[in-house]
Amino acid sequence: MRVTIFGTGYVGLVTGTCLAEVGHDVVCVDIDTAKVEGLNNGVIPIYEPGLEPMVKANHAAGRLHFTTDAASAIEHGDVVFIAVGTPPDEDGSADLKYVLAVARTIGQHLQRAAVVVNKSTVPVGTADKVRAAIAGELQNRRTTLVFDVVSNPEFLKEGDAVNDCMRPDRIVIGTDSPAALEKLKRLYAPFNRNHERIVSMDVRSAELTKYAANAMLATKISFMNEIANIAEQVGADIEAVRQGIGSDPRIGWHFIYPGAGYGGSCFPKDVQALAWTAQQSGCNPRLLDAVEAVNAAQKGHLFELMTRHYGDVRGKTVAVWGLAFKPNTDDMRAASSRTLLAQLWEAGARVQAYDPEATHEAQRIFGERDDLTLCGSAGEALRGADALVVVTEWKQFRSPDFGKLAATLADKVVFDGRNLYEPAEVENAGLAYYGIGRGR
Ligand code: UGA
Repeated sequence: MRVTIFGTGYVGLVTGTCLAEVGHDVVCVDIDTAKVEGLNNGVIPIYEPGLEPMVKANHAAGRLHFTTDAASAIEHGDVVFIAVGTPPDEDGSADLKYVLAVARTIGQHLQRAAVVVNKSTVPVGTADKVRAAIAGELQNRRTTLVFDVVSNPEFLKEGDAVNDCMRPDRIVIGTDSPAALEKLKRLYAPFNRNHERIVSMDVRSAELTKYAANAMLATKISFMNEIANIAEQVGADIEAVRQGIGSDPRIGWHFIYPGAGYGGSCFPKDVQALAWTAQQSGCNPRLLDAVEAVNAAQKGHLFELMTRHYGDVRGKTVAVWGLAFKPNTDDMRAASSRTLLAQLWEAGARVQAYDPEATHEAQRIFGERDDLTLCGSAGEALRGADALVVVTEWKQFRSPDFGKLAATLADKVVFDGRNLYEPAEVENAGLAYYGIGRGR
């Protein structure tokens, strides 16, 4: 099928590439000329495992095109996806300006019947706004065309996006049009083998499903972080508790890892946006507000542990392992590392940080400063440092030589923000150990 995708961010680029990979003819449109030029020359704007070779192969095979020409792109697609960003507005609501700008562009150039699919994470009711924006432009052109607006939220995770897209748990399609549903079923047929993954529903339920999924996952994390803080105070070990509850299939093993708080471009913004939607519709989002408040506090927990150990960190040099909001990405949006670094700097400490992929992003965010050294390796970050803080659980941080760490760190102390290490093993090497919720 002929597919057009607006937006070459995470969702648009990965979706477009995966659709091309299964044989569809895909045109990706972006207003960012440099980005489009880069993509046409094999420069992938994000770090995402497995994506680069797939983009290059499908581009070379002529199934994946990148352009800034919206009119010809709209002409191309039987299905037109909107996959542009919905950054948070000042009040926490999702800002729809990019989504609605694309809708207007579609209305300005549409020449034949089409299915418009919204993949961006958008509040309930957005499909109606998209429909109205397209219809308004058609009216300006005095043109009548049949078009459907479908909600088809994306559930991919950064760092595992290609895999999630190629092997989705479910494909949610929200539409009241049987013809649009049939079209999307054909589009997704290559991803829907062996068992039924398509869950079809009305548009508003599909829009809410996306937020409900992310808010549920964020709730699990905040819940575990709260229990971890209780464990710390009452002398229990959250890791034992996690094992004890995860084996109950009603609870499950996923997303019950306590840590330095959730970050990224989705959970923080989506929990706030859903709370905003709730308020707008007259509901009191008590639980969502609590999930957000627990997370905001948790992002400061590593610094709290350091203050507990040191009293005052002024003058200390702190090695930080991990800056990205999670492993296998260079994304630092709402990352816990940013809270920690700000607190350390505010308190007069120096930071020597290492991240396998996010160094350039950190450079962009923080610029040059005397109290920050961005290091080329985990070992370099330790040189001359007083303490180590692990913020992101990259695989390469999982089994350091604790003897060497003890010999290198002047104050012989490790703060483990992701519970990567066995406390006894670290302590046996002569280091003090602080984890999350490990009060035993
Ligand atoms: C999340 C969802 O997992 C995806 O399903 C969804 O499609 C995506 O948002 C989106 O809306 O686009 P993502 O933000 O890429 O994906 O990353 P996650 O793997 O969900 O991690 C989010 C944060 O939660 C990270 O900071 C991670 O460290 C933290 N986390 C995760 C925990 O602290 N504990 C856990 O047990 C799991």
